[in-house]
Amino acid sequence: MCGIVGHLGPMGSVDIVLEGLKRLEYRGYDSSGVSFINENGIINTFKKEGKLENLVQLLEDKDTASMISIGHTRWATHGGVNDTNSHPHSIENLSMVHNGIIENADILREGLIKEGYTFKSETDSEVFLIMVHSLMKSMPLGEAILKGFSQISGNSAFVFIHGEEKEIYAIRKSAPLVCGTHSANSHALVSSDAYALVGVADRIYFPEDNVLCHLSGKNKELISFYDTDGRPSKRYTSKVQSTQIDPSDKGDYEHFMLKEINEQSGLVRSLCQYYFEGDGSTFLNDIGKLRPSKFHISACGTAYYAGLVVKNFIEGINRIPCSTELASEFRYRNPIVNDGEVGLFISQSGETADTLACQEECVKLGVKTLSLVNVEGSSLYRGCDHNLLIRAGMEIGVASTKAFTQMGLTGRLLSFALNEKYTDKEARRELAAKVSLLADRMDEVLGRESEIKAIAEEIYNKKGYFFTGRNIYFPIALEGALKLKEIAYVHAEGYASGELKHGPIALIDEEMVNIAIVGPELKDKTVSNIQEIKARKGIIVSIGPEDDKNLKKMSDYFIGLNFDGLEELSPLYVNLVNQLLSYYMAKFKGTDIDKPRNLAKSVTVE
Ligand code: M6R
Repeated sequence: MCGIVGHLGPMGSVDIVLEGLKRLEYRGYDSSGVSFINENGIINTFKKEGKLENLVQLLEDKDTASMISIGHTRWATHGGVNDTNSHPHSIENLSMVHNGIIENADILREGLIKEGYTFKSETDSEVFLIMVHSLMKSMPLGEAILKGFSQISGNSAFVFIHGEEKEIYAIRKSAPLVCGTHSANSHALVSSDAYALVGVADRIYFPEDNVLCHLSGKNKELISFYDTDGRPSKRYTSKVQSTQIDPSDKGDYEHFMLKEINEQSGLVRSLCQYYFEGDGSTFLNDIGKLRPSKFHISACGTAYYAGLVVKNFIEGINRIPCSTELASEFRYRNPIVNDGEVGLFISQSGETADTLACQEECVKLGVKTLSLVNVEGSSLYRGCDHNLLIRAGMEIGVASTKAFTQMGLTGRLLSFALNEKYTDKEARRELAAKVSLLADRMDEVLGRESEIKAIAEEIYNKKGYFFTGRNIYFPIALEGALKLKEIAYVHAEGYASGELKHGPIALIDEEMVNIAIVGPELKDKTVSNIQEIKARKGIIVSIGPEDDKNLKKMSDYFIGLNFDGLEELSPLYVNLVNQLLSYYMAKFKGTDIDKPRNLAKSVTVE
């Protein structure tokens, strides 16, 4: 979704902002822009539809010397994708960028039109800019932002600059916003994502909702925070950040997605070590004491499917009831949540608007909240009573791969912590051995990329795809279909194997592909379901036990796997095959794999 970067400091501000925007490209966007204050105190704004590269080209012959600038990558919500609707929006010497949605924009716009204002864009964002401009007739900019902010509804983050004030103001409500400073170098920054500040800021600040952040070179501290009544605020946290961290790069891989797929076996090993032998053991111990009577899991997209995997672990192993729901549904359906139950939220970014809303709902309902989250310090991380980091590292590919595996595995470790045998050394050794076996088997699959690629080449141009699986493999079928849809732009659906005959089988013909996951459990029943597809001339790609000659014979393509000893962890192993299949099918189709059209990495609006 929209990315924001603002910077104030010695010269070179526009370059720092552009570098920050480049880091945020992975979040997904369709236009970009920058505003900067020149030496005469005048704001210059440049914006361009399409890739950030277009903006960079536009700026090539311009004098961008500046000490203060703001930049934005827009993911369109209100108004089409074009230069005018791109951010920043400006009026006179005031400029602003926005991430989020102003739900009452229409009514506010009407009032401002009556005041005599006209609007250049179709966006809700411009409404707030004009509101602040109007309020500034009777109060300073900071106060105008606070007053205007109290009148809008929805979740948003805004950053403002004013040509004469030469300062930056920022504010958020349930939308990501972080600030950063490098005091020795006199840099002050603000962004929607701490990743944009890596290497520039050595301290990061996380303001709470409705806190006005004021970045000013006149202050020794560079940043100060104010509550809604204008008094200095303590409602923020901060942490030291190393400036040594290199922003992620692709290494020798063609795409981040492929790099991230290949990282999984290593991450699986180190996650287990961290929680069993490293610093993570304290967190796991604390969670073990929770003993909830039920878990309410909510999440979105891939994280939701990981939630189904986690449900299978917790119900199967701990016999603790668990509901897994789409966050966008849970938040509005008045869920029945009782004392002693726990809200469990799964998210890579920790900034997904619907998931955050579910967490807030559970707080209101008075139950403890726990997250499985990747980004330490994210809004979800800060909002929950307990957190288990999934430790996937930075995930750049919009299509989530390694985060899914780490979510599932962290869920398995959670289920272990909830078990009575948690303190039993032998039980711990057994699970650690199983995780290590999973990593080894993943390495074997990664060594078979060319075999999977060859199958992808055969099937990438067919009419449609059904991923099927039963029981613990059902979430993997759902996740497999999502992955293929998002990066290869083909129609794919995930189904429980036994369900196809209740309707979707009508779609089967010689142009439809069934990617059938056949684990050792309920194998015969799953094979019968494949026969039903085969009888209707569907193309069968089966992923099943390597020694199953019968399955191999009946399949058009067969990917044999060694399930022995993996048991409940085997879904995470099978999923790797689906990830590679999708990756290579997308590659044959020639799509933008790391930044698929219309998608955003972090979905910060509902
Ligand atoms: O950051 P989150 O894990 O909360 O994101 C949830 C979904 O938006 C995300 O998993 C999305 O479905 C991915 N594009 C899937 O690959």
